[in-house]
Amino acid sequence: MLQKIENPPYADMLLAWYDRHHRDLPWRTSPPMMAKGLRADPYHVWLSEVMLQQTTVQAVKPYFAKFLALWPRVEDLAAAPSDDVMAAWAGLGYYARARNLKKCAEAVAREHGGVFPDTEEGLRKLPGIGDYTAAAVAAIAFNRQAAVMDGNVERVISRLFLIDAPLPGSKPAIKAKVAEITPAERPGDFAQAMMDLGATICTPKRPACALCPFNSHCLALAKDDPQRLPVKAAKKEKPVRVGAAFIAVNDHGEILLRRRIETGLLGGMTEVPTTAWTARIDGSTGTEHAPFDAKWEAAGTIVHVFTHFELRLSVYRAKVSGAVKPSANDEWWEPVTNLDAQALPTVMKKAISQAIPLAFDASNRKV
Ligand code: ADE
Repeated sequence: MLQKIENPPYADMLLAWYDRHHRDLPWRTSPPMMAKGLRADPYHVWLSEVMLQQTTVQAVKPYFAKFLALWPRVEDLAAAPSDDVMAAWAGLGYYARARNLKKCAEAVAREHGGVFPDTEEGLRKLPGIGDYTAAAVAAIAFNRQAAVMDGNVERVISRLFLIDAPLPGSKPAIKAKVAEITPAERPGDFAQAMMDLGATICTPKRPACALCPFNSHCLALAKDDPQRLPVKAAKKEKPVRVGAAFIAVNDHGEILLRRRIETGLLGGMTEVPTTAWTARIDGSTGTEHAPFDAKWEAAGTIVHVFTHFELRLSVYRAKVSGAVKPSANDEWWEPVTNLDAQALPTVMKKAISQAIPLAFDASNRKV
C-alpha cells in the first residue's frame, strides 16, 4: 500500500522560531503586537522595503528614521521637493530608487487618496514597484499570501530543497518552492522570518545549522554542503572606467559643485566637476581637462564600484580666488561646512574626502 508522505510543516517550524528570535526592526510590527491585532503601516513597510533593496539593514536604519522625521506620511513625501528627497537619500546608492520613490509617493497621494493598494497586482502598478516590493508589501502590510523572494530567501530555499542549478536560472524553481510553503496565515511574518533566518543563521559563509529550525529537514545539510549553495553563474569581470575629479575651494571656504543631468547614472545628483568617465586606456585623467586654469595638485585616486563598471577617478585640488565664476547655470559654490545637506552620492563624497580629508567630519565643522 502506498503511504501518503506529508510535507514537513515548514511554515510552522519557521514561525515558531521567528516568535522567539525575530529581529526588532524600526519598520516591523513584532509577533506579539501582530497577535494583538496591530498592523504595520504600509507607508513604513514600503519605504523600508525600497531602501532595503541592495542595502543592509544596518545601513538603512538611520535613513529610515530620517525620512520619517522629514516626511511622516506618504502625502508629505509626495509634496517634498525632489532635491530634498535626493539629498536625504544621498549615500544609499542606486539613485533611480529615490526618483521612483518620489513618483510612487505622488501616485499614492494623488491617485489613491494616500492609501496604498492592498494587493500584489494593485501595488505592482505603482511606479518603481517591482515583483519583490509588491509581494513584500502585500504580505507584510496586508497579510496577503504572496511569495516573497530576495537574496536571503534564495539562499535558504536552495539549501533546504537542495536546488543546485546556478542562479539566476534557478529563480523560477526557487520561487515555486517559496510559493508552495508560504502559509495562508501570517504570510508577512513568514516572509520576514525567512529573511531573518537568511541574515542571521543561514548565512552565506559558515551557516549556524545547529541553531536552524529547518536543520532536520534541510537536504543540503543532510546530503551536501550548505555553504556550497546557492550556486551562482560565474560573474563577468567588471569593466574599468577612468576619469578625473576637480575639487576647487575658494577663499570663502566654498567648493565648486554642479548638478548632473536628470537622466542616467546618478541622475539629478550633485557632483564636483569631472571629466567624462571612459573605458579608453588613454582616458582623460589629467589636469588639461580641468574646468578652468588653477594650480591643480594631484590628491590621489579613488575607486568606486558601480553595478556595471569600476570607476577610477584621479582627484585634483586647487585653491582659487573668489573671482572664478561658476561657468554654467547648474554650477554653484557651496560652503564646505554645508556638504552634508547636498545630494552627493558616495563616489563624490569619496572624491571630496580624498582632497579635503575632514570635509565630512561633523566635529571638525562645528568648531
Ligand atoms: N530585508 C528586506 N526586507 C526585510 C525585512 N522586512 N526584514 C528583514 N530584512 C529585510
